[in-house]
Amino acid sequence: MQITDQPGAELGVIVEDFDHTTASAADIRTLKEAVYTKKIAVLKGQHLTPEEFLALGRRLGRPETYYEPMYKHPDVPEIFVSSNVPENGKQIGVPKTGKFWHADYQFMPDPFGITLIHPQVVPEKNRGTYFIDMGRAYERLSAELKKEIEGTRCRHSVRKYFKIRPHDVYRPISEIIDEVETRTPPVLQPTTFTHPMTGETVLYLSEGFTVGIENEAGDPLDDELLNRLFEATGQLDETYEHEGIHLQTFEKGDLLVWDNRSLVHRARHTTTPEPTVSHRVTVHDERKLYDGMRAA
Ligand SMILES: [Fe+2]
Repeated sequence: MQITDQPGAELGVIVEDFDHTTASAADIRTLKEAVYTKKIAVLKGQHLTPEEFLALGRRLGRPETYYEPMYKHPDVPEIFVSSNVPENGKQIGVPKTGKFWHADYQFMPDPFGITLIHPQVVPEKNRGTYFIDMGRAYERLSAELKKEIEGTRCRHSVRKYFKIRPHDVYRPISEIIDEVETRTPPVLQPTTFTHPMTGETVLYLSEGFTVGIENEAGDPLDDELLNRLFEATGQLDETYEHEGIHLQTFEKGDLLVWDNRSLVHRARHTTTPEPTVSHRVTVHDERKLYDGMRAA
């Protein structure tokens, strides 16, 4: 296994000659260390079946199966499928996922530390995923803004981007909203926490999932504060030219592994409806989102 910095970017490493079936425990530790410190690892030359992809994921942690069944791979339920390509006339997985800034499972009580994506059908144009390193983003905040968010907590919910399921057709929207609020009630997390693997301070919020901010006493603060944070971190920049935004491209055979604690990401807009399929595995590592988090 060789790990080199991704050329021309602050984030990311390229990993060559990684074989999950023969990698030693030391190799796995080294790989995970690279994921935590450089945020994204691009494993080259991986052409894995769904079963092999899951086996690779298991080397890094305990898989979390997505809670909504419509995203599941038909043979390997631990795999989340994003696809706009029907197979034998049947929709597999869900099209157009993640086209908003978010961290995976941010709206859940126990988010996992690592996300793995294995692209299956790669678009010709508009390839890639946008990322923002929210550790760096915190560093870049003004001293005043840092002071303002001290001791605050953010509320995260899936409500803005919850996708209607096939069986929701003909259901009253109020009933679906009630179901979402009951099943996945909003979750409170500190606005910043210490990354348990690196010690850095992470600003934990996203335009897609963060729906409120409150002070230490639990009183809601004006949404305008959240908006300033989204703005400062680049999450409102529709041109994607903000200095904090990194575009990670990939090709067939790549497998992306990233730090889901400190990165927010967003699927790239496709102006043309190109076929795109990717498989995702998500895993919990040895630690919770941050140390001292209440058990879910
Ligand atoms: Fe995602």
